[in-house]
Amino acid sequence: MGPFFQFLLIFAAAHNAFAKCRCTPEDDCWPSASKWNALNNTVAGRLIQNEPLAKACYPGPGYSESKCRRIAANWTDEYWIAESPIGYSYPLIDTCPPINASIPAYPSCDLGNSPVYSIDATQRQDVATGIKFGKANNIRLVIKNTGHDISLRSQGYGSLSIWLRNLRSGLQFHKVFSPSNVSCETNWNGSAISIGGGYVWQDVYDFAAKRGHVVVGGADPTVGCIGGYLQGGGHGSLSHEFGLATDQVLEYQVVLASGRTVTANSCQNADLFTALRGGGGGTYGVVVSATIKTYPTRPTLYNSLTITGLQNDSGSVLNATARMISKFPAIVEEGFAGTSLMGKVDGVWVYNAPFIKFLTDDSPGAIAHAKEVMNREIINELLPGNGTKYHVDSQWQTYRSWHEWYEAVPHTTPGANQPMMASRLFGKKSLVSRQEDLTELVHILSTSGHHLTTGSDLTGGSFMIMNIVAGGNVLENTPHTSVNPAWRKAYLLLQQVDFLVANAGSAEIKKAKDQLTTKKVAAMKELAPGMGTYVNEADSWDAEWRKDWFGDEYDWLLSIKRKYDPDDVFWCWRCVGDEGWEEVTGGTLFGPLCKVK
Ligand SMILES: Cc1cc2nc3c(=O)[nH]c(=O)nc-3n(C[C@H](O)[C@H](O)[C@H](O)COP(=O)(O)OP(=O)(O)OC[C@H]3O[C@@H](n4cnc5c(N)ncnc54)[C@H](O)[C@@H]3O)c2cc1C
Ligand SMILES: *[C@@H]1O[C@H](CO)[C@@H](O)[C@H](O)[C@H]1NC(C)=O
Ligand SMILES: *[C@@H]1O[C@H](CO)[C@@H](O)[C@H](O)[C@H]1NC(C)=O
Ligand SMILES: *[C@@H]1O[C@H](CO)[C@@H](O)[C@H](O)[C@H]1NC(C)=O
Ligand SMILES: *[C@@H]1O[C@H](CO)[C@@H](O)[C@H](O)[C@H]1NC(C)=O
Ligand SMILES: *[C@@H]1O[C@H](CO)[C@@H](O)[C@H](O)[C@H]1NC(C)=O
Ligand SMILES: *[C@@H]1O[C@H](CO)[C@@H](O)[C@H](O)[C@H]1NC(C)=O
Ligand SMILES: *[C@@H]1O[C@H](CO)[C@@H](O)[C@H](O)[C@H]1NC(C)=O
Ligand SMILES: *[C@@H]1O[C@H](CO)[C@@H](O)[C@H](O)[C@H]1NC(C)=O
Repeated sequence: MGPFFQFLLIFAAAHNAFAKCRCTPEDDCWPSASKWNALNNTVAGRLIQNEPLAKACYPGPGYSESKCRRIAANWTDEYWIAESPIGYSYPLIDTCPPINASIPAYPSCDLGNSPVYSIDATQRQDVATGIKFGKANNIRLVIKNTGHDISLRSQGYGSLSIWLRNLRSGLQFHKVFSPSNVSCETNWNGSAISIGGGYVWQDVYDFAAKRGHVVVGGADPTVGCIGGYLQGGGHGSLSHEFGLATDQVLEYQVVLASGRTVTANSCQNADLFTALRGGGGGTYGVVVSATIKTYPTRPTLYNSLTITGLQNDSGSVLNATARMISKFPAIVEEGFAGTSLMGKVDGVWVYNAPFIKFLTDDSPGAIAHAKEVMNREIINELLPGNGTKYHVDSQWQTYRSWHEWYEAVPHTTPGANQPMMASRLFGKKSLVSRQEDLTELVHILSTSGHHLTTGSDLTGGSFMIMNIVAGGNVLENTPHTSVNPAWRKAYLLLQQVDFLVANAGSAEIKKAKDQLTTKKVAAMKELAPGMGTYVNEADSWDAEWRKDWFGDEYDWLLSIKRKYDPDDVFWCWRCVGDEGWEEVTGGTLFGPLCKVK
């Protein structure tokens, strides 16, 4: 009997403490093969019985050394991950890593937290069919778009997944937006794009660019549009200029728990519309289309700043980073935005900031002014240490359009096994007036036993991400949104990401998580009290997640969840509606979903 099977027996015993559980393959109530076949027929043969992605690396049927090598080579490639019904960017528990099976550390390989079946949906009807099947058979349902989620929200032990990758009914450009219900008044007379399914931002950026427009989307081209990203808030290099991505949504098409498809906008199902603009993915219904605002493109000024530490550096780059953080509000107010990173690469600290300014005026005078602000606030401050404390490189370039800039510089970030994240939104005051505390914070965050060794192998690595994606229009409280109110005061979303070492045991995992939550998150909170963080990039083990991720919106969001999904057909860990259900894990990290008595 394998260790996994023993766990299952523990689960079975644990069931008794709960009033009711969703059926899993180990239960008598799991649907029969003929029921699954019938479901398969209803979805035109697009039901997939999942197998662990790296099964070919393990002895037994399907073993293939060459296939295993290919899988291992692609394991952290976000494009490859999104192509699979059970590809996940951040598999916090990896029960089938693509290792060489001759290494004895991983004797078995199983699905773990991944869904048992996935419907490869290509039309709205498939989504409704999946929802109804899950409901009728008391099966845990999960929704997967790209699988980028950090908090396991598109995974679920023993579940049926509705996979949206191939639900692609097209992108549609509206020169002038008009709501689908003509009597619904709108104050937006500009253009818009309807995103009809599981597209990623690269698709929409290209589509908009062909029409001379831009949209607010993610920094990374592989992030999905209509799922967790838009519904949880969404930031990127243009959110400073136009507001969060979710602020741009004019209308959604949503398949409800009842299987019915409805329109949600400011006058139809307005409460649902509001909940889907900040309240997070995976919980109110399945969005199958979103219409978002677009804007004419403009010339884009780019500054790439790199600070590379010396071999003997014992804190110069960290101190310089802290000093720059305190100057961020000044450059944010000048219109600069972007996501900077700091981490150790090949033994030295490196800070890199690819900042842009989306220009309203590209006259030489206006460009010179913008450069002057960046030089005065950030770059000139670094020059006295150039060559003795670190090397500073600063490059300027002007692109004719935002898209031209986007294509010219790299944006993809690799996925990684078992990352842990700490993050916090910072207001202006805590950035500009607490220089000493910021220095201490940067040192606390950068404390980690392990460091990046190369650019792509993140195992055991750690880095700090400084998202300059707020201020500006993010500070405007857009009607019919429910994002964490902390966003409306934010100038910076600071993230620290630590990656576990390969083969980390459960004691090591626990220690690293505790260190993150009790030291790093706590230090961030101390410096930015009364703020909160971004639901999509947060520490999943923060006990105060409701308050920190949703602020005072949580209770209202929960009431909307109850209204649209009274039977908890949709459930995800760390989502609104998390309460009342629990994964009975019996000593491991996943297990059946049960209603708490
Ligand atoms: C490489 C990388 C880069 C990132 N960059 C950014 C960034 O620049 N800016 C930013 O804001 N965030 C960024 N993120 C975080 C990102 O916003 C979240 O991971 C987000 O959850 C991704 O949404 P998804 O739908 O693509 O992912 P999924 O994991 O597929 O889904 C996320 C959640 O949404 C639910 N969901 C998915 N589709 C639907 C749907 N159609 N209807 C209802 N619920 C749905 C899922 O059930 C799950 O709960 C990044 C993540 C990664 C991995
Ligand atoms: C569903 O039907 C298709 C086409 O007949 C088949 O290829 C596929 O294996 C079936 N899926 C399952 C889970 O049986
Ligand atoms: C597994 O290890 C053996 C021995 O080191 C090696 O020859 C083989 O190529 C490896 N296979 C993979 C898939 O990495
Ligand atoms: C995976 O990686 C290999 C080797 O790097 C590459 O040739 C291949 O195209 C990648 N993609 C897939 C889907 O295997
Ligand atoms: C759109 O609205 C703005 C602001 O109300 C107004 O200035 C502009 O003329 C309108 N444009 C069109 C095409 O109606
Ligand atoms: C369209 O909007 C109006 C005004 O809000 C509303 O009364 C009407 O019911 C809506 N029509 C549909 C089909 O939803
Ligand atoms: C970094 O800043 C701290 C606090 O201001 C100071 O004690 C330390 O000497 C500085 N380190 C370097 C390398 O400049
Ligand atoms: C590190 O080494 C460089 C070059 O050898 C030297 O100029 C510098 O003073 C040293 N810095 C520290 C902090 O020791
Ligand atoms: C830092 O010094 C190097 C070497 O002298 C120089 O090439 C570089 O331009 C300097 N950086 C800046 C931003 O001036």
